[in-house]
This record gives sequence, C-alpha cells and structure tokens, in this order.
Amino acid sequence: MSSLPSALTPRQRLVVALDVPTAREALAMAERLSGRVGMLKVGLELFCAEGPAFVKKLQTRVPVFLDLKLHDIPTTVRRALEAVLKLDPRLVNVHVQGGPAMLEAAVEAVRAHRAAGGCTELLGVTVLTSLDREALAALGHAGLPEDLALAYAKLAHQAGCDGVVCSAWEAAAIGETCGEGFHRLTPGIRPPGAAIQDQARVMTPAQALKQGATWLVVGRPITHAEDPAAAAEAIVAEMQQ
Ligand code: C5P
Repeated sequence: MSSLPSALTPRQRLVVALDVPTAREALAMAERLSGRVGMLKVGLELFCAEGPAFVKKLQTRVPVFLDLKLHDIPTTVRRALEAVLKLDPRLVNVHVQGGPAMLEAAVEAVRAHRAAGGCTELLGVTVLTSLDREALAALGHAGLPEDLALAYAKLAHQAGCDGVVCSAWEAAAIGETCGEGFHRLTPGIRPPGAAIQDQARVMTPAQALKQGATWLVVGRPITHAEDPAAAAEAIVAEMQQ
C-alpha cells in the first residue's frame, strides 16, 4: 500500500504547513498553492478551530496530512483514529512515545481503513525538534536527541507504522536501519539563505532529499512569502537539482 518514495515527484514531496487559525485563511492559501504542492498539513490549531468538516472540504482540493500527533492509551488512540480516518487523510500521525501497544492499536486502525479502500498512511512522531538534550534530560532521557529519535524510529517500524516524522539530520540513519521504503517526513526545511526563525537544526530542500527524506514540510518560507506560489515553485526547482 505504501507508495515507493522513489516514485514520488519533487512536487509530490512538498508538504506545506497551513499554520493559520481560520478556514478562510487556510482555503485562501490552498487556492494560491493549487497544483504547486503535493500535500497540505493541517495541525492542531486549525483542526481545533475548524474541525473535521473543514478537513473534508480541503481534501477535495489537495491531499491532507492531518498532523494531530495523537498520544494516549491504545484504545483511545485507536478510536480517535477511527473517527478521523473517515476523512481519509493522506497521512496521520501518533507520538511514538505512546509505546508499542499504542502504536500497534494505531497501525490496526489504519490497516483496517486501508483494507476498506482508504489511502491513509501512518507516521510515528520521533523526538520533537523543540526538545534539546537538556529538555530530554529533564524528562529522564540521558543521551542525544538523535539517538532517541533512531530508537523511536525502530519502535515505529517494528509496530508496523509506514514511516516517521523526524529531523532531516536523522533521515539517513533511520533509512539505513529501517529500510529506504520506510517514510521519513522532515520539518525544519529552509531554502538556502532563508531565515531560520525558531527552528534549530535546519536543512535545505536538496540536502534533505539527499538524506532520504520522503516528504519535506515547509511552512513560513512559503506561507509568509510575498508570493507563496513563487516560493513553492522555487523550492520545487531546488529539489529538482
Ligand atoms: O514554518 P516552518 O517551516 O518552521 O513550519 C514547520 C511546520 O512543521 C510547523 O507546522 C511545525 O509545527 C511542524 N513541525 C516542526 N518540527 C517538528 C514537528 C512538526 O517544525 N518536529
């Protein structure tokens, strides 16, 4: 069911984060980016504000990555997934930190959905890029964020997830360990010379692809650009190099 990463075009690999508070702004941005990007990412802010009906509407225009990062006991996650899978988003995700049983419950829900004709793939969120070594130590994890991310990717792979959300800096090591067919979706992407803003460990689109990223999540470099369509085209062109 997983589409082979190598079969995706650079444009299909570009995922734009719709980090806006209203459906009106999100639909206006979707309109401006129509035909220029592979997927749009709806996060918690937009989903909490506008709900499933909005996602359903957006899905008629472009595939949606529903970035809800679910994390709860296995039954609750399975049932929440069953509810959002009715929208048939292209991608959903759960926190790997929820543990093997929670991951398996999520995989079960997504596989049942696909067996019934759905297209959704499931990603595990490894380590949030906002967590540095100090923050992990405060949470009781000794060691480097990249080592924990690799360990979490292995757990997600063993549980049957289709891939992970990770930093582009970990994408190559995860591919070596879990196989190149195991998707890696990488935020923290910045075109050469762009402002880094609050991201810490960034990579350019071309570098991230070289590391084996399946999809690149780009937000502000496109959505805050004067001409978002031109910014998206420039990133696709850089990916094609
Ligand atoms: O604007 P920018 O390109 O930094 O946006 C990146 C998007 O990816 C945001 O929606 C952010 O929440 C998300 N994200 C991230 N780092 C993660 C997971 C998700 O930046 N580890």
